[in-house]
Amino acid sequence: MIEEQNTSGKPTPQIWAIGGGKGGAGKSVVSTILAFWLARMGKRTVLVDLDLGGANQHTLLGIKNPLKTLNDFITRKFATLEDICIDTEAQNLRLISGASDVLSLANPHFSQKVKLINHFSRIDADYVMLDLGAGTSFNVLDFFLAANKKIVVLTPEPTSIQNAYIFIRNAVYRRLSRLSSKTPSLQALIKTAMDPKNVLKIRTVKELLQFIEESGGKDVMEVLKKEIDNIRLTVITNMTRNNKEKNAGRIVQTVAEKYLTIQSTDLGSVSYDKQINAMVSDMVPLINLDQSSHAFADFYEIASKLL
Ligand SMILES: Nc1ncnc2c1ncn2[C@@H]1O[C@H](COP(=O)(O)OP(=O)(O)OP(=O)(O)O)[C@@H](O)[C@H]1O
Ligand SMILES: [Mg+2]
Repeated sequence: MIEEQNTSGKPTPQIWAIGGGKGGAGKSVVSTILAFWLARMGKRTVLVDLDLGGANQHTLLGIKNPLKTLNDFITRKFATLEDICIDTEAQNLRLISGASDVLSLANPHFSQKVKLINHFSRIDADYVMLDLGAGTSFNVLDFFLAANKKIVVLTPEPTSIQNAYIFIRNAVYRRLSRLSSKTPSLQALIKTAMDPKNVLKIRTVKELLQFIEESGGKDVMEVLKKEIDNIRLTVITNMTRNNKEKNAGRIVQTVAEKYLTIQSTDLGSVSYDKQINAMVSDMVPLINLDQSSHAFADFYEIASKLL
């Protein structure tokens, strides 16, 4: 859907989404600092706070009370997303602040999300970075799946690894379920497969595909498989404290490939950095941090890899 051309004739920005399931893995930090580096590399970047439950990007960027938020666009106070972009202290970096009043976006219909995504692709920028909220609600998954680059953030903690896997799993099922929206029997089967205790004993996406093939649906299976192949994820391990912890992302990649048949690229890791923690807990704006730290160098490397 993002590939749709905008009508202004301007090039469409690349949309990157940062998700990952578990709260506190560092999605907001990762999206902010990656956006910051892209901007520093001369790319016109817009960071969008899509954490509809707890918008906080503005504080990371040292903006106390954003005068315009996504809500003003949703309630049609402003006609375009361009109108609600706020300049930040960093050159080339603008922010669309999260909706403080989330009611209007609490339960959007799929078509409303598609509309919003189309508006993202009309922003006059090179990159649009979406910071998603925690969890695996359809809202989070749909924005994640619509992005050109889908970045999963996790930490080395076992629960975070597990959550990243569940996030990817739910994203795959969501994509398959949307794809089969016109085939109720297939959609019902996918829904059954998502229940970990289902009677068909389908435990993984791999087993689901096998089941469909063995039930005489080789063509359907191939369509679904192709769709999964197109998802293409990238993985970042955040807050690592030693070399061993840097492998967390690889673990997720391995299980995602084995059970969900999904391919991903490891973007590497970001070290734990006290001053990044202070950025959130003591509201020290990003611009005031020491950008020569290990973690900033890690982010720089990741941004370069992504470009
Ligand atoms: N590399 C890092 N080094 C040190 N602290 C970090 C790092 N990355 C994130 N943190 C800290 O972890 C906490 C969670 O970060 P952040 O708010 O970005 O997570 P999140 O995934 O966006 O959470 P939520 O799901 O609630 O939106 C914050 O206190 C932040 O400062
Ligand atoms: Mg966040």
